[in-house]
Amino acid sequence: MDAISKLVEQGYNRIAEDYYSHRNLSKFNNELEEFASLLPKNAHTLDVGCGAGIPTAKFLTERGIKVTGIDLSDKMLNLARDNVPNAKFVKMDMIKLEFNENTFDGIISVFALFHVPKENHYDVFKKFFEILKPGGILMINSGVSESEGTSRFFGVPMFWSNFSPKTTLDLVKKAGFSIISEAVLERGGEYQYWVFGKKS
Ligand SMILES: C[S@@+](CC[C@H](N)C(=O)[O-])C[C@H]1O[C@@H](n2cnc3c(N)ncnc32)[C@H](O)[C@@H]1O
Repeated sequence: MDAISKLVEQGYNRIAEDYYSHRNLSKFNNELEEFASLLPKNAHTLDVGCGAGIPTAKFLTERGIKVTGIDLSDKMLNLARDNVPNAKFVKMDMIKLEFNENTFDGIISVFALFHVPKENHYDVFKKFFEILKPGGILMINSGVSESEGTSRFFGVPMFWSNFSPKTTLDLVKKAGFSIISEAVLERGGEYQYWVFGKKS
């Protein structure tokens, strides 16, 4: 595992309970509703950087949608397994996704891409495209201003990395996605850039 992924993994292993207890669990319900509405019946989705499984994996499984969640942090994965017993959770780095082509009907990655170095974002989007089935739906968010570096988060060092919304959009398109919608949205007092894409 590379040094950045190690730092992020160790950070979340230390702060998992604290982070999760402060999570605003309903702030992006509208976006989760939209994602769920775009999926086919009996969909299988991948939640990338799934954290404690709430809200995303719980929201989707409660609607009969199959979820596989991946995360770097064992502590977060254990919380997710307790919180959402009907989903499957696997330790994996999103920079090295080990899934076959055309596996998922939807991929969701929220509040996670900003922990991955900018130089990896395009490759992550390309891999998302590859492992989605034709017609598959992507939902991601990222920060709103270009930056990269380390700062303290819940008392531990944490790595952050974002392109501008325009560059993120360009990279999602370049990876092959058509764009369903994109916008900077305020949710729970924070601004994020949200993109819905389709492998069409
Ligand atoms: C801010 S939390 C958000 C968790 C969840 N998506 C949510 O919305 O509650 C970020 C999560 O992304 C995970 N993560 C960060 N970088 C990752 C990577 N390269 N691969 C897989 N998971 C990663 C962290 O371990 C952490 O659980």
